[in-house]
Amino acid sequence: MRRRARKGGGRQIELVIEAIGARGDGYATVDGQPVFVPFTVAGDRVLARVTGTHAGGVRAEAVELLDEGPGRAPPPCPHFGLCGGCALQHLDEAHYVDWKQALVGRALAQRGIMDAPIEPLRRVGRQSRRRMVLAAAKHGGRLRLGLHERASHTVIDLETCLLVTPGLLALLPPLRTALQVLLADGETADVTASETDGGPDVLILSRTEPGLAARQALAELAQAADLARLSWGPTVRPGDAVAPEPVAIRRPPTLRFGDVVVEPPPGGFLQPTAEGEKLLVAAVLAGVPAGVGRVADLYAGCGTFTFPMVRQCRVHAVEGDDAALAALWTAARRADLAGRVSVEDRDLAREPLDAAELNAFDAVIFDPPRIGARDQAMALAASTVPAVVAVSCNPATFARDARILIDGGYRLAEVLPVDQFPWSDHVELVGRFSR
Ligand SMILES: C[S@@+](CC[C@H](N)C(=O)[O-])C[C@H]1O[C@@H](n2cnc3c(N)ncnc32)[C@H](O)[C@@H]1O
Repeated sequence: MRRRARKGGGRQIELVIEAIGARGDGYATVDGQPVFVPFTVAGDRVLARVTGTHAGGVRAEAVELLDEGPGRAPPPCPHFGLCGGCALQHLDEAHYVDWKQALVGRALAQRGIMDAPIEPLRRVGRQSRRRMVLAAAKHGGRLRLGLHERASHTVIDLETCLLVTPGLLALLPPLRTALQVLLADGETADVTASETDGGPDVLILSRTEPGLAARQALAELAQAADLARLSWGPTVRPGDAVAPEPVAIRRPPTLRFGDVVVEPPPGGFLQPTAEGEKLLVAAVLAGVPAGVGRVADLYAGCGTFTFPMVRQCRVHAVEGDDAALAALWTAARRADLAGRVSVEDRDLAREPLDAAELNAFDAVIFDPPRIGARDQAMALAASTVPAVVAVSCNPATFARDARILIDGGYRLAEVLPVDQFPWSDHVELVGRFSR
């Protein structure tokens, strides 16, 4: 395991790790406070150096492993320990699965939800991640492209990743060649690459608009990597919207949701794995009772759930990202589904659908970002909608929103955890509620 030695002293203490916390770090309790030590397992005896504070506790790093707890395994990736992408490769399969499964139960228990039936964790294979978001930085003429180091802005020059598809991994060398020309010294970029049915779809965001040489390098990248589409856009502050411009469109970057072909916008949200998407769609469909007339798909994205559902009911898709919603609507019209799909561009955090609006639907699906959908859950709790399906990538906000629904009279019939983010502290969930 590689780790960068941190400068400075810091108090050293001997600890016996009690358990692995929700963020994937082992912890021991000292003077009533948790001391978090990354890359440890329950039962480890470690000499640790205190490095700072952590939300609700103290942060430390292992200086020496004095005794090993059970469940350790050699991390398979050479970047593990330094790369911020994975936190748990030092666990064997059985301990890893137990920990991830327990994350869900613990999050629900913290909200007093003790009796929800939680399905066994569904897994996705390695090399299945079809969307990656990378950082690039050029310093002293040297370009780095990869993920950030743990708790740092330093970019790791990624040589490999065991999670992404071989097709995405193969993009790294030609991307480096183009970014070397595009970026001035000291400049950074964000790169989103997704695999679509038409081939890779790449979006590069950087500060300076590409000049002639950079445009030439980008055109060569599109050719060399056989990209479906390559887009460039300026780095903007969160909330400022600037539509990226296509630099090369060689084939349509399409995806199929149900039997509908969608062309997502550059960098658009996509479930990270095809296997995971299939499991989520099946769970969502199972949560919508047969024979219903109208369903609302809130936080609909480009239609991951809208289109698989639309053959059995009419769907109202609500989404705050204009480009995603436009892609959904274009796909609906092209598939001759304009009579079965309606769309609404709406910020659901500021203006959730209220109970009266919700009561027009027989079922509601909501799939918010990590912060969850507290106000929307409160409106649902005040509604009479018979069936609700909550999809989430954050057990903590899922549990908070589930509590709101349960307090409003819903019964949580089932929770399905899907490990779309192996070796990280993230887990995707689908909860089925009814009243
Ligand atoms: C986790 S993604 C799910 C997208 C889609 N359900 C899927 O599975 O592909 C969350 C979606 O919520 C949208 N979103 C984020 N904040 C929003 C808000 N305040 N109002 C409406 N939509 C929002 C994002 O643009 C994104 O499409």
